[in-house]
Amino acid sequence: MQKPNMFEAKKRDRKAIIKEEYKTDPKYKNIGNGLKYTVKTYGCQMNEHDSENIKAMLEEMSFTEEEDYEKADLVILNTCAIRENAHNKVFGLLGRLKHQKEENPNLIIGLCGCMAQEESVVEELSSKYKFVDIIFGTHNIHELPSILNKSLLKHAQEIEVYSIEGNLVENMPVRRDSKYKAWVNIMYGCDKFCTYCIVPYTRGRQRSRMPEDILNEVKKLKEDNYQEVTLLGQNVNAYGKDLDINYSMANLLEDVAKIGINRIRFVTSHPWDFNDEMIDVIAKYPNIMPYIHLPLQSGSDRILKLMGRKYTKASYLELFDKLKAKVKNVSITTDIIVGFPNETEEDFKETLDVVDYCKYDSAFTFIFSPRVGTPAAKMVDNVTLEEKETRLQRLNEVVNKYSKENNLKYLDKIVPVLLENVSEKNAEYLAGYTDTMKLVNVKAPKEYLGKIVNVKITDVKTWSLDGELVEVNLTNDEKNI
Ligand code: 5AD
Ligand code: SF4
Repeated sequence: MQKPNMFEAKKRDRKAIIKEEYKTDPKYKNIGNGLKYTVKTYGCQMNEHDSENIKAMLEEMSFTEEEDYEKADLVILNTCAIRENAHNKVFGLLGRLKHQKEENPNLIIGLCGCMAQEESVVEELSSKYKFVDIIFGTHNIHELPSILNKSLLKHAQEIEVYSIEGNLVENMPVRRDSKYKAWVNIMYGCDKFCTYCIVPYTRGRQRSRMPEDILNEVKKLKEDNYQEVTLLGQNVNAYGKDLDINYSMANLLEDVAKIGINRIRFVTSHPWDFNDEMIDVIAKYPNIMPYIHLPLQSGSDRILKLMGRKYTKASYLELFDKLKAKVKNVSITTDIIVGFPNETEEDFKETLDVVDYCKYDSAFTFIFSPRVGTPAAKMVDNVTLEEKETRLQRLNEVVNKYSKENNLKYLDKIVPVLLENVSEKNAEYLAGYTDTMKLVNVKAPKEYLGKIVNVKITDVKTWSLDGELVEVNLTNDEKNI
């Protein structure tokens, strides 16, 4: 048994990153014979991608996928710790799974991801949630087969969570959810330590993958006909800073672009590390999508300082202006936290001021949620929840107004869309995204799935667009909105 420790998790050790190749162990091959699994994923794209690895490992153990967790023999919750509501959702589902296990004692329950890295969560699971069979963390996903095997042999809860990251494991098996677009990890962890954020504790220190491993993965995806890759990291702009090879995110983006895959995206950017070299590369290559997620968090310098964000309102706006000027047609989205401890009306107005200036294509907005172990959780706060909720509502009204305004610019325009799935509401429609990451619903036959097509936008909503297929060849200039 190995439990996590938040104090240990904070330590950053500059030791060299050791690469390890994943090896499938044939002795676990039949564990899942005749059994069905469900993986439920919470949180960010990093977790989505980890779940693709988990699913592949389970399938190598002969489990088959079952969408409805109530019919599954094994349910794994890949959890998120970023805010309390993600937490509550998981504990809610654990309550339902407890009843399911009372009716089916053979049900196997697993919990992994960021919540498994939290000391307080693991204490609770090991004292009050004994029916959870396996608990493993973000640093040892690759050990799932052996952890599962151990728990099954001893018929007892198995906890294996490391506070400190281990080797960088390459060539994990992957069962990708999409045939057309793929996640590619470029780095793990984060060293920024924003005062509100739990990620540097749950995901460990920053470790970049070697460029050749990333480039080989993208080349393979291109050969397999993937249309789009999204380069993933908690703070992708800092890619390479932990390697001794003088190779940056700008270099990586350029080398990925040269492979010639049709669409390249990357998340998430920290405004602090976003340099001119990177902007120039984004502007130069048409297959790097003109879409940037640029978290603001707050528009008040006082709050930004308390958050440990290391930029100011002015420097953020300078970067924003540069991106708009240099990257044609760029759409920019953001994340904003309201109700950080002692945020005043004046501070909040500074945030609204930035939103009015930037007119974001869309924004994810949150009320500050204290996370145990982070510095901000210890800050004394005199703002009421009611006030925080009012601010969130005021902010959302402005954010939605600009989302709709931006979307309206698309009306009657023709835009390229990668059609990636059948619309949930109407089987005659396919859904996909523009290069600027706008969701579009189009009436089209299923043969168009996986194709980048030109779509004329016929109707505009706050969060999506409707359109129809058109047969034209657009030049890059014509694609401008
Ligand atoms: N409370 C509220 N929102 C948070 N985020 C991160 N930590 C917290 C927290 N403690 C938000 C940030 C980040 C996004 C992924 O989640 O806006 O960019
Ligand atoms: Fe949530 Fe962050 Fe973990 Fe992603 S890395 S699952 S956003 S806590």
